[in-house]
Amino acid sequence: MSSKHSHHDDKAHDQAFFRTFGMVLAALFGIFGFCIFAASLIVPKAGPSEAEQARLEARIQPVGQAITDPAVLLKAAAPKVKREPMSAEQVVSSACGACHTAGVLGAPKLGDKADWAKRSGAVGGLDGLVSAAIKGKNQMPARGGNPDLSDDEIKAAVKLMLEKSGV
Ligand code: HEC
Repeated sequence: MSSKHSHHDDKAHDQAFFRTFGMVLAALFGIFGFCIFAASLIVPKAGPSEAEQARLEARIQPVGQAITDPAVLLKAAAPKVKREPMSAEQVVSSACGACHTAGVLGAPKLGDKADWAKRSGAVGGLDGLVSAAIKGKNQMPARGGNPDLSDDEIKAAVKLMLEKSGV
């Protein structure tokens, strides 16, 4: 009895459905299109620009570069400038006097003839004293604590200290 009525209802229902479905589809396509557009803004179109390329190349340069210019090579290979040897006075005042002037830590004092003579005798003279000064002895650090001093400088300093002590 209500077949006609219900048929009309179905038709209206279908129309409403397709209208809604169409709107949803349209909305989805709209969102899809927007996404494509947004993605195109984010992703760069071409490769890096020239400036970017140059910066990149500078950053991946090897750390050490081969030097091929002979003038530059000569400069790079030049040995370190050797300092002038110090005089005995300079060595004693800069490296030895701190302990030996006043006899710090039991160091033989400058001018203490008896102490120096005894020590010299104990180690076999100048060479023995020099080698003790080079290697260090008990409280005395090797080379008076200055590894930069040469054997000759140490020897000259010991000679001077003996001289000043009248040995
Ligand atoms: C940090 C203090 C100190 C400095 C700096 C120092 N000496 Fe000495 N030196 C000593 C002491 C302490 C002794 C005594 C070591 C011992 O017999 O136990 C000594 C002993 C010596 C002796 C006698 C070694 C022996 O066999 O008895 C000589 C030589 C000597 N020093 C030379 C030098 C010279 C040269 C320098 C500087 C280049 C120097 N010292 C710097 C502390 C020092």
